[in-house]
Amino acid sequence: MRILVTGAKGMLGTALLPVLSRNHTAWGIDVQDCDICDAAAVSAYLRSHPPDLLIHLAAYTNVDACEANPQIAEETNAFGTRNLAAACAEIGAAMLYVSTDYVFDGTREGAYGEEDAPRPINVYGRSKWMGEQHVRSILKRFYIVRASWLYGAGGKNFVTTILKAAHQQKTLRVVNDQRGCPTYTHHLSAKIAELIQTESYGTYHITGSGSCSWFEFAQAVLELWLLDGVEVLPISSDESGRAARRPANSVLENRALRQIHLEPLPHWKTALAEFLEEIGQTDLGFNDPSV
Ligand SMILES: NC(=O)c1ccc[n+]([C@@H]2O[C@H](COP(=O)([O-])OP(=O)(O)OC[C@H]3O[C@@H](n4cnc5c(N)ncnc54)[C@H](OP(=O)(O)O)[C@@H]3O)[C@@H](O)[C@H]2O)c1
Repeated sequence: MRILVTGAKGMLGTALLPVLSRNHTAWGIDVQDCDICDAAAVSAYLRSHPPDLLIHLAAYTNVDACEANPQIAEETNAFGTRNLAAACAEIGAAMLYVSTDYVFDGTREGAYGEEDAPRPINVYGRSKWMGEQHVRSILKRFYIVRASWLYGAGGKNFVTTILKAAHQQKTLRVVNDQRGCPTYTHHLSAKIAELIQTESYGTYHITGSGSCSWFEFAQAVLELWLLDGVEVLPISSDESGRAARRPANSVLENRALRQIHLEPLPHWKTALAEFLEEIGQTDLGFNDPSV
């Protein structure tokens, strides 16, 4: 297949492109190649470089900054996605759109299934949910993949943020009233590569198995990194002072994946150990204050 990936230089794109390139003609673009907010540029790019499948990762992903810049969030995440879906319709390409657990409000008792009604509580979640609706209304052949709490090489993420903080401070304060499913970009990429072979179009939750709070996640990072002498204290979301509200529970059940007989992703703690092994040899620049 000819597969075009938007947001290719982002965290997920960095993991996904090499996986796709093993079996497909895959290439990536970023904002320098084509700004997804520019409908004419998007249409011209896809006509001159037509893929069979477009994997759309590009997004305005800073959840707190989205609160201050709702217009950029909507233009990028909602209208940018609409522009790409419309261009795919023009050239007859299928699309895979990566969405988020933040489309849910977090009030559900158990895990959210694919059929549960989204009700986002922040600007980022609303803009991604609008993006989903554009994909559904414009295209017949689409996958919507809701991922959550991503980490991996090639991007700012919770795991490396915690490691860096732990090398600079003796006490870390981490939110304990939000629960979700940490997801390693390598594992998500491998599953996306399997999913696109099925042509079983539809909406999928794809996350690491099991769930935890950010506090438990931070504890596991330090435990597995064998870092002693750093205390992690639980705090509430209110105490964290973040601009955007987050769902208290954004655990996603990966039911649709099971229904098409694809294996679930490994448990989040197994995945975390794998990621820490991956970055073990890397210079994370802990002593560089500008990192
Ligand atoms: N990170 C998470 O925890 C998480 C969780 C669930 C779902 N997701 C979704 O997964 C996808 C990938 O996330 P990620 O963490 O890999 O994101 P990321 O690292 O922030 O990468 C996003 C990419 O999109 C590009 N981009 C932004 N605005 C653009 C525009 N107008 N035109 C073209 N490209 C543009 C960015 O380029 P610049 O860097 O140059 O701006 C960047 O390369 C996103 O759709 C996100 O919503 C992420």
